[in-house]
Amino acid sequence: MSVDLEKILRPVDHEMPPFPPKHMTIASGEEMVIRQVTRDEIPDILIHVAPLMSVERDFYDVVAARVYAELLAYYRHRMQDEYVLVAQIDGELCAVVNGRMVDNDTGMSLHTLALRRGLRIGAHAFAAKMEYHMDILGHKEVLIVAESPIGFRRWMIEYKLEKRFEIPHELGGPPSWALTSEIFEKARGTLVIGRRPVPDALLAKAMEAILPPSDPPTPPEDLLAATRSKYDPTGTALILQRWMQQEKEDK
Ligand SMILES: CC(C)(COP(=O)(O)OP(=O)(O)OC[C@H]1O[C@@H](n2cnc3c(N)ncnc32)[C@H](O)[C@@H]1OP(=O)(O)O)[C@@H](O)C(=O)NCCC(=O)NCCS
Repeated sequence: MSVDLEKILRPVDHEMPPFPPKHMTIASGEEMVIRQVTRDEIPDILIHVAPLMSVERDFYDVVAARVYAELLAYYRHRMQDEYVLVAQIDGELCAVVNGRMVDNDTGMSLHTLALRRGLRIGAHAFAAKMEYHMDILGHKEVLIVAESPIGFRRWMIEYKLEKRFEIPHELGGPPSWALTSEIFEKARGTLVIGRRPVPDALLAKAMEAILPPSDPPTPPEDLLAATRSKYDPTGTALILQRWMQQEKEDK
């Protein structure tokens, strides 16, 4: 008897209402749209996440590698109850956030990745995913961890998250923090902003195509300048990486 193994391997997603797109004016004066993407759009995001895996600064490498895996798993039906939101300015990809529904009460925040820096774009995208968990999915709390000091400052400190240290987070098992509905209500209107509906032309531009980030984080020009080199007395590993980088640039 033949067995359709794909039916066993592929998780069956629960029904999740969509995130209603929103827009906001960011500090640069530009208009940013935050919207949910479909599975079909994932490859258009992955190509912009991949280069960040070699940016050690601010833990972009770890976060990008994990985001890549989670988005690919979503695309290929190997992750359950995941959603992905993007922030776009004039179509340009500025941030990616994702998470998962654990059950009717609990959400799992996975990652926030800002592809344009210095404008709180990541903070706004994170707030949109909290809004999705609380207002749309009706969760009582969202479990969160930070992988970088900037992430810790943005989520744990700015929102004053509560400790749930008895719960290991899905992202590698560290102790979780929680955003509760009370914390979310306090943040509404300050940390959580945006307007709906998105004007037709603005939304159409965002839906038309996910355009490449205009100024994404990049590795340092000289890898020996990276802080890690001070732990490598010979600098050998970094010299090798620098040669590889140089070869690529010469081609
Ligand atoms: C964490 C993250 C999403 C926050 O995004 P953000 O809200 O848009 O904030 P930025 O990263 O642009 O800026 C954070 C701080 O670094 C400073 N900064 C760092 N690099 C900067 C740059 N190139 N230009 C301007 N400011 C920069 C900002 O001034 C800001 O300071 P502030 O907190 O006093 O406002 C983003 O830093 C990121 O994607 N980091 C890598 C992945 C990561 O750590 N994700 C979160 C996992 S918990």
